[in-house]
Amino acid sequence: MGLLDGRVALVTGGESGIGAATAKALGAEGAAVAVLFHTDDKAASAVRDAIVDEGGKAMIVKADVGDEALVTRAFATVTAELGLPDLLINSAGLNMSGVPVADMELSQWNRLIRTDLTGAFLTSRAFVRGLREARRPGRIVNISSIHSTAVRYGGADYCAAKAGLDSLTRTMAVECGPMRIGVNAIAPGMILTPMNREAQSDPRVLAAARDHIPWGRAGKAEEVAALAVYLCSDKASYMTGAVVTIDGGLMLEQALGA
Ligand SMILES: NC(=O)c1ccc[n+]([C@@H]2O[C@H](COP(=O)([O-])OP(=O)(O)OC[C@H]3O[C@@H](n4cnc5c(N)ncnc54)[C@H](O)[C@@H]3O)[C@@H](O)[C@H]2O)c1
Repeated sequence: MGLLDGRVALVTGGESGIGAATAKALGAEGAAVAVLFHTDDKAASAVRDAIVDEGGKAMIVKADVGDEALVTRAFATVTAELGLPDLLINSAGLNMSGVPVADMELSQWNRLIRTDLTGAFLTSRAFVRGLREARRPGRIVNISSIHSTAVRYGGADYCAAKAGLDSLTRTMAVECGPMRIGVNAIAPGMILTPMNREAQSDPRVLAAARDHIPWGRAGKAEEVAALAVYLCSDKASYMTGAVVTIDGGLMLEQALGA
C-alpha cells in the first residue's frame, strides 16, 4: 500500500531535476503520474519508464506552461488517459537572469514571469476547475524558492516571480479551502539539479556553497521530492497556505557578513 494509491498526479517540469525526482517519488507511493515536459521528450520518457519499471503507472505530456491553450489541452489529455488529476506539482521554472533591473530587457522579465508565475496560475486554474466540477478534493504543491524572500543581485525577475508564487499559494489556499484543495509551496535552497549546473561541476562553487550552508552540503532533488510527497499525502491533511523551507539552514545565514 502506498501513501498515494488511487491518486492522479500531474508534475510540471517533470522531465528534470526536482520535478523528475518528485514524479518518481509520487509514482513509488502509488500515484498515477503525468510527466509534463517542455522540450525534452527523451528525458520525460526516461522518467515515465522509471516509474513503470517500478510497477507504477505513468504517461508523458508536452506543454509550455505559459501557453493557456496548451495547458488546457494537456489537462484534457491527462484526464482522458489517467483520470482527473487530484495532485498538482508546479516545478517548471527558469532560473534568474543575473541581469540587474537597470539593464534588463522587458522580454527577459516577461519570459521569467510567464514561466515561473503565470505557468503555475494556468495549471492551477485548470486543476481547480476540474476538481470543482467533480466536487473532489486535491493538493497543489508549488516549487518556490528561498529567493522569494532572500533577494539576489540580478535576480529581480526570478525573485519577483517566486514571491508572486508564494502569494498565489496563499491566495489559492484561502479560495480552495472550502473545496478541500490544499495549496502549499516548498522553498528549496541550493539543490543539485541541472538548474545549478555550475555547482554540480565546479568544485570551487560547491565548496563555497558548503561554507554557507549549516548542514554542510547542497540538497538533493530526492530530498525535496520527499517533502512534496508528504504535502500531497493525507499526513498533511491540515496543511494549506504554507511555504515550507528546505535549505539545510541556508536562510539562517542571511544576515551574516555585515
Ligand atoms: N535547483 C535549485 O537549487 C532550486 C532552488 C530553489 C527553487 N528551485 C525551483 O525548482 C523548480 C525546478 O527546478 P530544477 O532545479 O529541477 O531545475 P531544472 O532546470 O532541472 O528543471 C526545470 C524544469 O522546468 C521546465 N520548464 C522550463 N520552462 C518551461 C515551460 N515554459 N513550460 C514547461 N516546462 C518548462 C524544464 O523543461 C525543466 O524540466 C524551479 O521552479 C526552480 O525555480 C530550484
